[in-house]
Amino acid sequence: MPAPALRPSNKPLLLALAGQTLERPAWWLMRQAGRYLPEYRAMRAKAGDFITLCLTPDFAAEVTLQPVRRFGMDAAILFSDILLVPRALGQPLSFENDGPKLAPLSDIKLIGKFDGEMLVPVAEAARHVRDGLPETTALIGFAGAPWTVATYMVEGGTSRDFQRVKSFAYRDPGGFDVLIERIAEATIEFLALQIEGGVEAVQLFDSWAGALSPDGFERWVIAPTKRLVTGLKARFPQVPIIGFPRGAGLFYQYYAMETGVAGVSIDTAIPPAFARDCLQSRVAVQGNLDPVLLLAGGEEMRRTVRQICSVLSDGPFIFNLGHGILPETPPEHVAELARLLADPAR
Ligand code: CP3
Repeated sequence: MPAPALRPSNKPLLLALAGQTLERPAWWLMRQAGRYLPEYRAMRAKAGDFITLCLTPDFAAEVTLQPVRRFGMDAAILFSDILLVPRALGQPLSFENDGPKLAPLSDIKLIGKFDGEMLVPVAEAARHVRDGLPETTALIGFAGAPWTVATYMVEGGTSRDFQRVKSFAYRDPGGFDVLIERIAEATIEFLALQIEGGVEAVQLFDSWAGALSPDGFERWVIAPTKRLVTGLKARFPQVPIIGFPRGAGLFYQYYAMETGVAGVSIDTAIPPAFARDCLQSRVAVQGNLDPVLLLAGGEEMRRTVRQICSVLSDGPFIFNLGHGILPETPPEHVAELARLLADPAR
């Protein structure tokens, strides 16, 4: 049988990632499935705990679809968490009221063999979501980038100053390279499972990329991201990758040039005009409304949305936030954003 011909996609998100300029921006929101939605809170209560919610395919598929049903984003993002990778490497994980808790990693020899079986329910959830998605809605998968995952593994949770993980990296760079490499290999497997389940694009969250020194950024953000992107593209050349090196500042352009990603997500601090002039000729740009402006709503939000769209709409562009949606955000503000993006000129 001849190989199926590559069909041009009818999904705006994938067209933007293929480099096309669209008539109206494709859009989705980081953390679009979450606590700001009452129907999410109900599912979360039904599941009991957060990890059960992630690893029960019916539940994970349902919360993935909830925001798309309400607001009609151009993409759903498969519900799971970046910290399922350390868990599959044998590090105990729990979620408490003040965030994730991992048994801090004192010695990388304590990392186990990667157990991909533990993540199979995520692939199963992807299959369920694909069945329920509108025809023009893309399904995005995700993982943490190695540096950001390493911060949680070494700090044991969210950190303010990254003392432990940076001390480890600066004192024993060779040992830290080994940890980063183990995470990168596991991450490729995690993303491969998601792709085999039907995700059509993936995002790498490097939420703490901005915490490193310039040399550290080169060694633990740029280099492993480039290897990861190269490895994934060799197996899945058709799946575009979006990179989100939050806080990378001056290094955004270098990241876009070096890593091989198809799209770059810009954080709230990046001027859209910089992204247009220095990134958009090479990659699709995604971003970057301040999540607090979406929470606050009103004229200032509308003005900023129009401004971002007018600066970035002459090249490949995906409207998003500069970081994840905040739990206190009124859902009506998201509905208003959806109306505005359908017709940014209004
Ligand atoms: O975008 C989506 O809708 C998909 C869902 C998603 C979650 N986590 C679900 C979640 C995504 C994309 C993530 C990524 C993630 N997880 C990141 C990178 C993005 C970022 O925000 O910087 C990080 C650092 C994590 C690790 C993590 N998971 C933390 C620090 C926390 C606690 C903070 C918080 O918001 O509560 C989580 C828990 C988590 N992951 C929740 C959700 C909806 C809230 C848990 C709950 O419902 O009780």
